Amino acid sequence: DGDAYKYYSDGEWKKSSSGKTVAIINPTTRKTQYKVQACTQEEVNKVMDLAKTAQKSWAKTPLWKRAELLHKAAAILKEHKAPIAECLVKEIAKPAKDSVTEVVRSGDLVSYCAEEGVRILGEGKFLVSDSFPGNERTKYCLTSKVPLGVILAIPPFNYPVNLAVSKIAPALIAGNSLVLKPPTQGAVSCLHMVHCFHLAGFPKGLISCVTGKGSEIGDFLTMHPGVNCISFTGGDTGIAISKKAGMIPLQMELGGKDACIVLEDADLDLVASNIIKGGFSYSGQRCTAVKVVLVMESVADALVEKVKAKVAKLTVGAPEDDSDITPVVSESSANFIEGLVKDAKEKGATFCQEYKREGNLIWPLLLDNVRPDMRIAWEEPFGPVLPVIRINSIEEGIHHCNASNFGLQGCVFTKDVNKAILISDAMETGTVQINSAPARGPDHFPFQGLKDSGIGSQGVTNSINMMTKIKTTVINLP
Ligand code: G3H
Repeated sequence: DGDAYKYYSDGEWKKSSSGKTVAIINPTTRKTQYKVQACTQEEVNKVMDLAKTAQKSWAKTPLWKRAELLHKAAAILKEHKAPIAECLVKEIAKPAKDSVTEVVRSGDLVSYCAEEGVRILGEGKFLVSDSFPGNERTKYCLTSKVPLGVILAIPPFNYPVNLAVSKIAPALIAGNSLVLKPPTQGAVSCLHMVHCFHLAGFPKGLISCVTGKGSEIGDFLTMHPGVNCISFTGGDTGIAISKKAGMIPLQMELGGKDACIVLEDADLDLVASNIIKGGFSYSGQRCTAVKVVLVMESVADALVEKVKAKVAKLTVGAPEDDSDITPVVSESSANFIEGLVKDAKEKGATFCQEYKREGNLIWPLLLDNVRPDMRIAWEEPFGPVLPVIRINSIEEGIHHCNASNFGLQGCVFTKDVNKAILISDAMETGTVQINSAPARGPDHFPFQGLKDSGIGSQGVTNSINMMTKIKTTVINLP
């Protein structure tokens, strides 16, 4: 297949020996937009070998040089923002402006990582033995952070560039090598991004990018003995990976059902604009999207009216036109969302707008009077459909939030900061935002999910630390 994008191995762009390709369907046109190589298990073995060898000398490359290369890659990435953003528009139907933002944010993340790495990896600890009972001052202990080896990075379709570099940059600054398996939708954006690292001049074999079907190389990659750490962002697959992976550190960011708790004293205009931003940006396809509104009954009518008015102003259409609401990533995703909507209809939810769908494009929909027996009260649509549950007490809201199997983020709106902090303490989620919608960024903030939402914590500093191990050398004095 001559027009298929090549995969990246040993510092070169290659065709797979499989002779097969995987088609990437444009969510808007529903036609094949690009093709990528369907890599084989032998090709995976090869990149693993190369990664292992390249890592050894990379770990010995001075930290400042590693940082310098990352800064270079960041600058090149930003220079290439237009073609990469165009791929994001075509592959995942992300609105044009947001696509550019994703690439710029990614360049900034890579630079920040280089700087942070220089600081935190440039320091170690020195301990003396006589602080522990029974010891004389005869042992000096030196600690430093050493790389883990080969990091396997698996980003999701919704941020194929940003959530790839949030794994690549910490891995590389810490002296690891990196094997990237992009999502199918988003693979070409990932390949373009890898090209920027290629242009920056990283050593051969240090970074590889293998494309293909998860069903063919997914388990082979995640269970590969050459992998020393997996950083994964996505859905349920992460739970399956964590059950099969060996004794290696895992960083997982999976789904969420982020609740927005609205108290009676909240600034309802602020809440409404945050619900729009939180619930409908990128058509709700963010793990940190507001996925359920839990509003006190006394202010529910007023809030729903305000949100309805703002929903009416959202533009719906093609990502090229920078529409607010664009087609969801695949037909199966649209069908899944429709299933949740139908279930809510059958069980008596109030539709604030008419349900409308054309192909993968689903018009924004607010569902009021949702009850706990409806699937949408618990499941994440990953689409522009937002349920509102009316509550009669704060406890009821906290109870609903904590009854979820997810625990990524949540938010609470109130003018009473004391109440907000108590609610934050009671919510079993990795982060609680007070008076703003959930969000991962700024990208150096810690980012973590409890329960089925993940393992470990991300954010620049945490990722660097997670991709290193403490090594100690003890000097024993006579
Ligand atoms: O989809 C999951 C992302 O980690 C969310 O990132 O809050 O910047 O949209 P975001």
